[in-house]
Amino acid sequence: MLSRLTAGAFKKVASFGASRSSTLFSGSRAASARFASTKASSSAFESLANSRAAFASASLFTVGSIAWYTHLYGTLPFVGKVHASHLSDEGLHPSAYPWSHKGPLDSFDHASIRRGYQVYREVCAACHSLDRIAWRNLVGVSHTADEARAMAEEVEYMDGPDAQGEMFQRPGKLADYMPAPYPNEEAARSGNAGALPPDLSLIVKARHGGADYIFSLLTGYIDPPAGVEIRDGMNYNPYFPGGAISMARVLFDGLVEYEDGTPATTSQMAKDVVTFLNWAAEPEHDERKQYGIKAVIIFSTLFWISLYVKRFKWGPIKNRKIFYNPPNNTH
Ligand code: HEC
Repeated sequence: MLSRLTAGAFKKVASFGASRSSTLFSGSRAASARFASTKASSSAFESLANSRAAFASASLFTVGSIAWYTHLYGTLPFVGKVHASHLSDEGLHPSAYPWSHKGPLDSFDHASIRRGYQVYREVCAACHSLDRIAWRNLVGVSHTADEARAMAEEVEYMDGPDAQGEMFQRPGKLADYMPAPYPNEEAARSGNAGALPPDLSLIVKARHGGADYIFSLLTGYIDPPAGVEIRDGMNYNPYFPGGAISMARVLFDGLVEYEDGTPATTSQMAKDVVTFLNWAAEPEHDERKQYGIKAVIIFSTLFWISLYVKRFKWGPIKNRKIFYNPPNNTH
């Protein structure tokens, strides 16, 4: 039918634009034209890609340009220096240890805090301060008031000025804070080959991995693996980011003698001192969990009471039936 129409008639129909079929028709014509041209170019491309000569020359070109680039600059283009990655590049991630205070209802092991304090005092306190902990904080946690007072009195504190304006030394009191091993940062650095032993009060919170990290650090000293060079005065520890730490291994079996007879192995001392430091960073820990239990009990009771009250109050309202008695229009 269409073939019998003249070109003029055809144009006329298209120019009206009102007929649906004419728009469809012109659309399909354009599509077929596009298709024809794509087909032509793709077949040309295919024949080029399929030719072995083209493939061989492209490979040669690639290899040649890479060879030229590496010859010129000494490295591969777009590839950073390749080196074997090592455990200590980012710090070996510590394992998750089953701390006895880990669960939501668990308190600290206070006997362990007491042993941990002993390890801190006898080993770590030679280099690390514990600025935020006062003697009084130990009372009722790891020591009795008399024990804490006796320990405080062994330390001399600067006080004053007295009536003559002089500073004087006096034995410590419960209100005094733990004595620091160095008077200032410079002294601490010069005593440790330039490295600053950080204050340990909040160290468990201040390090990624917390207690697990500190425990792994204290027990993780090993010989540097083949190919890793450690400067003099530095020590290799895969848990420390970078691997080279200024602090040497400090815990060795039998270093302290526990008063409760616990065998003082390296891992036992590390566990105790980390429990102590964990308490130092979170002294509110036990109370917080107690409050948590109380809050859950109280709020869940209140929740059930409020449900009951709601049903009780709304019961009559929701169950009532409202009738509408239309007035009798009989008069
Ligand atoms: C001889 C001094 C010395 C003793 C003793 C010592 N440390 Fe250190 N400690 C250092 C120094 C120095 C650094 C800083 C290391 C660095 O930055 O390379 C350090 C760093 C640390 C760090 C921080 C690591 C980090 O991730 O930044 C922790 C935690 C730590 N010590 C815990 C302890 C504990 C716990 C003890 C006791 C068992 C202890 N240290 C005993 C000197 C000491």
